[in-house]
Amino acid sequence: MIFITGDIHGNPVRFSMDAFEEQRDMAADKSEEHYCIVLGDFGLVWEERQSRTEKYWLDWLDKKPFTTLFIDGNHENFDRLNAYPVSELAGGKVHRISSKVYHLMRGEIFTLNGLTFFAFGGASSHDISDGIIEGNDKNWREKAKKLEKEGKSMFRIRNKSWWEAELPTEVEMKNGIDNLSKYGKKVDFILTHSPTASEIAILGGGTYEQDVLTRYLEEIRINTEYKKMFSGHMHVNRAVNDKDLLLYEQIIRVQ
Ligand SMILES: [Fe+2]
Repeated sequence: MIFITGDIHGNPVRFSMDAFEEQRDMAADKSEEHYCIVLGDFGLVWEERQSRTEKYWLDWLDKKPFTTLFIDGNHENFDRLNAYPVSELAGGKVHRISSKVYHLMRGEIFTLNGLTFFAFGGASSHDISDGIIEGNDKNWREKAKKLEKEGKSMFRIRNKSWWEAELPTEVEMKNGIDNLSKYGKKVDFILTHSPTASEIAILGGGTYEQDVLTRYLEEIRINTEYKKMFSGHMHVNRAVNDKDLLLYEQIIRVQ
């Protein structure tokens, strides 16, 4: 079985037995592997060093009858995430975070139980309208406190709570195009954190704006044959059309 859900922001409690009973069937069915995929803002590689809470939840996920896979969102600690050694899983490149938790790297294609998944994480942060404080500024704490006193909470600190790597490099984007070409521009599912340019246009945008990634994903969407595309980031459960879905707390079965 394979399930997909949206952002968890460091709290995977929606995979508890009461909230997600299907895992009983997974535990009983040893005939194949079982997977749960998180569409970014995983948030369990977030603190400067692994915290006790992060370790607790990763150990908790390791005991589940499924393997947890996630693409990166914009709320990840990219310094830590990208420091994990690169390995391979199901035909694509991953970072192995704990024994049964893996980060699916950008532009890679994975074959899980016979189905192909194109993964491309990342997104622009929209909760930074009060600015980015330079993390190497020795006064960053004071500057942060000053903003808070002024009632401004929409700020983050470079390389401590915000990373430029939330948006992809040219190399990552080319990797995605090259891998899709190898698969004849055809996969079963596309997994992204960011919505595509047309999804933002359809949903009215609001605080979400177009950027290099929304435009890239739009190109992918147009030029790839796929059954469904799932995206996180916008914290809504909504079908934009019959193929493209935004997911948040819902857990959807795809196999
Ligand atoms: Fe999020």
